[in-house]
Amino acid sequence: MYELLALIELSIWLGLPAWIANSMPVLFGGGTPIDGGRHFRDGYRILGNGKTIRGFIVGVFLGVLTGIGQSLAAPYLEPIMAEYVTVTTEMSAILYMPIPAAFLLSVGALTGDLIGSFFKRRIDIKSGNPAPVLDQLGFIIMGLLLASPFLQPAGIYAMILISITLGIHWISNAVGYLLGLKKHPW
Ligand code: CTP
Ligand code: MG
Repeated sequence: MYELLALIELSIWLGLPAWIANSMPVLFGGGTPIDGGRHFRDGYRILGNGKTIRGFIVGVFLGVLTGIGQSLAAPYLEPIMAEYVTVTTEMSAILYMPIPAAFLLSVGALTGDLIGSFFKRRIDIKSGNPAPVLDQLGFIIMGLLLASPFLQPAGIYAMILISITLGIHWISNAVGYLLGLKKHPW
């Protein structure tokens, strides 16, 4: 029971820098688009106005800040965790969140987001319009891939993290629909 709880907690812990990096640009982004307003040879924008330089930088900065907070908190959390479960080397590797891993989780999240937008523009999905799954998973998968030289969690952590990421999206959409903020529950 506690083992499962620890598994879920650490999966969330692993995802925090990528989640922060991915979600903060909407609050602090804007300004010059990364593609400089240019169009691809198919006539559509390369990335679109939704992907800005400031959003990218702010995302990386806050993602790294999150990682620094996590690694500072780790020595205090480890003994608490150890009261309930055996903290394995792998578990403490995630808990201590190496700063290079937090940096690469953040850069990866934002790069995955850019790649997603690139593909969305290629199939004529306008900036801001949703691309289910791609919008929710591109950033987390790219974050984990880029960070893998510094942090290689067992597949189960990635699977739980991906499931939670999709779950949060589904729940927030359902709540938005119930509150009348969204037209559709998806
Ligand atoms: N944002 C930003 N810079 C980034 C990423 C996001 O400034 N690198 C801001 C933009 O204001 C963007 C908002 O965060 O509109 C929401 O981000 P996102 O949903 O990723 O972009 P979309 O506007 O939906 O564009 P796209 O269709 O290309 O995903
Ligand atoms: Mg969007």
